[in-house]
Amino acid sequence: MKLWGGRFTKETNELVHNFNASLSFDSKFYQEDIEGSIAHVTMLAEQGILEKEECSLLVKELNHIKSELTEGKLQFDEAKEDIHSFVESILIERTGNTGKKLHTGRSRNDQVALDMKLYTRKELISIRELLKDLLNLLLKLMKEHLDTYMPGFTHLQKAQPLTLSHHLGAYFEMFKRDYERLSDALERLNYSPLGAGALAGTTYPLDREYTASLLGFYGATNNSMDSVSDRDYLLESLSDFSIIMMHLSRFCEEIIIWNTNEYQFVELDDAYSTGSSIMPQKKNPDIAELIRGKTGRVYGSLVSLLTTMKGLPLAYNKDMQEDKELTFDAMDTIKGCLKLFTDMLSTTAFNKEKMAASAKGGFTNATDAADYLVNHGVPFRDAHGIIGQLVIYCIGKGAALDDLSLEEFKAVSPVFESDIYEAISLKTCVEKRGTKGAPGTVAMLEAIKHCEAWLTNL
Ligand code: ARG
Repeated sequence: MKLWGGRFTKETNELVHNFNASLSFDSKFYQEDIEGSIAHVTMLAEQGILEKEECSLLVKELNHIKSELTEGKLQFDEAKEDIHSFVESILIERTGNTGKKLHTGRSRNDQVALDMKLYTRKELISIRELLKDLLNLLLKLMKEHLDTYMPGFTHLQKAQPLTLSHHLGAYFEMFKRDYERLSDALERLNYSPLGAGALAGTTYPLDREYTASLLGFYGATNNSMDSVSDRDYLLESLSDFSIIMMHLSRFCEEIIIWNTNEYQFVELDDAYSTGSSIMPQKKNPDIAELIRGKTGRVYGSLVSLLTTMKGLPLAYNKDMQEDKELTFDAMDTIKGCLKLFTDMLSTTAFNKEKMAASAKGGFTNATDAADYLVNHGVPFRDAHGIIGQLVIYCIGKGAALDDLSLEEFKAVSPVFESDIYEAISLKTCVEKRGTKGAPGTVAMLEAIKHCEAWLTNL
C-alpha cells in the first residue's frame, strides 16, 4: 500500500512506480531524513500534539532504524517509493498506530526540502575541509619554492620570470575564494524549511523555530511556498563546485604541460600516473586529465538543474526530484577530485634546474632590459624599440640577451654599461618585483604571512 493509496482504486503500473520512485538515490540521505523526523516528533510532543510517551517510542525506533541501516541489518525495500515512505512504513510496522502519527503536520515537500538541505550542508562542510587540505599543501610548497625560478607565461609564450612559490600563490588565492564562496553558501542555506507543509504551512501549532534550532539552523525560512520550492542553495553550491572544478582543471592543464617531454618541469609520482598497453615508455598524467575531464560533468549538473528549475510554477513540482542524482554526482565527483589532486600534487617532484633554465630562455628579461634604459633616462617607448632590435639580433645569432658583449649592447644604445648583466639576471628580474602581489621574495614573504594567518583563523 502506498502512503497516498487511499484515494486510488488500482495498483500503480509497475513502470510508473519505477519511473516515479527515488529510493534508489534518496536513500543516500536516510540519516538526514531520520534526524529531521526526530526533530519533528520532538517538537510535536513539546507542542502537545503528540503524547510524551508516543514521542519517546518514535524517537527510540527512529534511532534503531538509523543504526540498523548504517550497520546493514535493515535493507532498503525497492517497493517503497522514496526514503520518506520507506522509513515511515518501517516505523508503522514496528510501532503500529503511534508510527502513523509521525507525519502529522508535515508533507514530503517540506521533508525532502529539509533532507536535501541537511545533506548539502554536511557535504559543503566536507568539501570545504578538502579545500583546506589543498590550501595547507599550497602554503607549504609556497614556502619551499621561494627561489625555484620558472618562466611566467602569457598566451603560453614565455613572458617574465617568476617563482614557483608565486605561481602556486595564484592558486592559493583561487581556492581561498572558493572556500569563502562555500562559507557564504552555507550561511544563506542555513534556514529550515520544516513546517512549511505541502506549500501553505499547517493548521497545527507547530514551533518551526524549535525544530530549526534542534537541527542546527539559524532559524526557520520565511515563506512556506518558497520553502518547498527553493533549490537556490543547490544551484549556488553547483556554481561554487563548477568554479572549483574550473580552478582544478586549469591547474591540471598546467601540470599536464609541465609534465611533457618538452617541458619536464615536473615528475609525477609513479603511484599517481598510469602507463600504456602498447607503448612501454609511457607514463601518463591520467589523474590530471580525468580531473580536467570531470569538470565538464560538474558544469553539466549546474546547467541541468538551472534548466529543470527555469519553467516551474510555484510551489512543489515533481521535476524537482531531478535535483538529486545530479547534485549527488557533482558532490561525489568534486570530493574525489579534490582528494586525488591534493595527493597527486603532494607527491609531485619539481625539476628546479629545468625550470630555471627555461626561465632564462625566451627573452623573459627583455622587459627588465628596457627598464634598465628607462632608469638611465630613455623614454619607455624608445627603450621598448631598442630592446626589440636587440631581440631580433639575438634570434639571428641564436643567443640570449645575457650572452651579448657590452659592445653589442652599445651598438644599439650607448646608454648600456657593464651593470646591464646584473640588471637582467634571473635573480634580479624576480627580486626587483617587490610591489604587493609580485614574485620578489619580500613581497612573497608578506603574501605567505597573510595566507598563513587566514588559514589559522579558519
Ligand atoms: N521524492 C520526492 C522528491 O525528491 C519527494 C517529495 C515528493 N512529494 C510529492 N508531492 N510527490 O522530490
